[in-house]
Amino acid sequence: MPEKVQRVKGVNDILPEEAKQWQALESVVKHVMEKFAFGEIRPPIFEKTELFARGVGEDTDIVSKEMYSFSDMSKSSLTLRPELTAGVVRSYIQNNLQQISPVQKLWYEGPMFRQERPQKGRYRQFWQFGAEAIGSPNPEQDAEMIALFFAILKALGIEKSVLLKINSVGDSESRATYRKALQDFLRPHLSELSETSQHRFESNPLRILDSKAPNDKLLVKNAPKIRECLNASSKTHYAEVLKMLEAMGIPYVQDDLLVRGLDYYTHTIFEFTSDALGAQDAICGGGRYNDLVKELGGQDVPAIGWASGIERLLLVVEALRPLEVASGLDLFLIVLGDELRLTAPKLVHEWREAGLSCDMDTLRRSMKAQMREANRQEARYVAILGEEEFDQGVVQLKNFETGEQEAVSFENVASVIINALSS
Ligand code: HAM
Repeated sequence: MPEKVQRVKGVNDILPEEAKQWQALESVVKHVMEKFAFGEIRPPIFEKTELFARGVGEDTDIVSKEMYSFSDMSKSSLTLRPELTAGVVRSYIQNNLQQISPVQKLWYEGPMFRQERPQKGRYRQFWQFGAEAIGSPNPEQDAEMIALFFAILKALGIEKSVLLKINSVGDSESRATYRKALQDFLRPHLSELSETSQHRFESNPLRILDSKAPNDKLLVKNAPKIRECLNASSKTHYAEVLKMLEAMGIPYVQDDLLVRGLDYYTHTIFEFTSDALGAQDAICGGGRYNDLVKELGGQDVPAIGWASGIERLLLVVEALRPLEVASGLDLFLIVLGDELRLTAPKLVHEWREAGLSCDMDTLRRSMKAQMREANRQEARYVAILGEEEFDQGVVQLKNFETGEQEAVSFENVASVIINALSS
């Protein structure tokens, strides 16, 4: 026997039963995005590697070790997108979206690719939906972005079980002040830091705050706080964001150790976490990135955004409050006798056209097997077609729930069911 081909490590098959939860979630997301006046954008799944190297940062885990990169026939290096902010910004610049309106509010959904060590909630192909607002430097834009994800949590009924952690990394001046303060604090302990943190000491000391190594964690507990190094305008921006969140009734905790793993952030950064998950507890992460558009060759345009991991969010939703999904067919046609099999497709076709979800057996199985299939598909009605019914142009229409049965002409089947289901 030929060997079976297995799926690649760290990727998932989303099978039809599970896909129903995905669809229910996607419809909530789409609805809320529309309410907040965001337009959908669908950038490509692969981009030039350079985009992520410049956009996300050479020194980040994502770029330095997690990208799926390959050369195409022209030998240029391409990469399956590990995230979509860089791609959205590239598209914004390339398509001159600022000419359409000075603030572009965009949302997206799709698969991302990172070569991480797979574990619960962490995959190599995973899905995100996210939103980016490009154009406004003001705190009300930060507040709106956070309110947007909060509205999605609320629509899912899980907002009370999720924690919003927020921090500010300020503008570049504030970050330079903090970088120095943190390095001065850590320098005497340099040899005690983990190898990764020692490496980051020069290249990206803020990431040391994020280290999972126990000794690093202990050390940074007493480190100076970035909040204390913010300059006046960064401080005001951050304070105003917090004030607006309070006014909107969105609870948050300030987390001085929150830094994000991507290099483009400025000012407000945030994460939503859930303790219904294990180690990978972030269901959404984002922040302001005022310099990225310029760094990628566009104008000096500020922006803010976030992205949420769909697999993780669904793990939380399933644990706390599974989404209601439409289940079951309206009608299953049961055909008795091989001569009638030729009539069946036409009837089912007409009933589908009339608006019913409808199915039939194509394996020419026994009545018992067809009934079993109707049951499996949770059909609300079955239509039984035998020789006698065929001669009279009717089916025996049986309501599966009540057990009631009546003869109904072919043409009336759809309207009888539609009326019954809508009453
Ligand atoms: P991120 O924090 O790298 O940010 O990813 C956002 C979310 O994607 C995470 O909070 C998590 O829910 C999900 N996620 C990330 N990696 C994985 C994985 N390997 N498996 C499953 N889920 C994962 C970004 O991607 C930024 N682009 C967010 C952003 C948008 N910032 C500004 N605008």
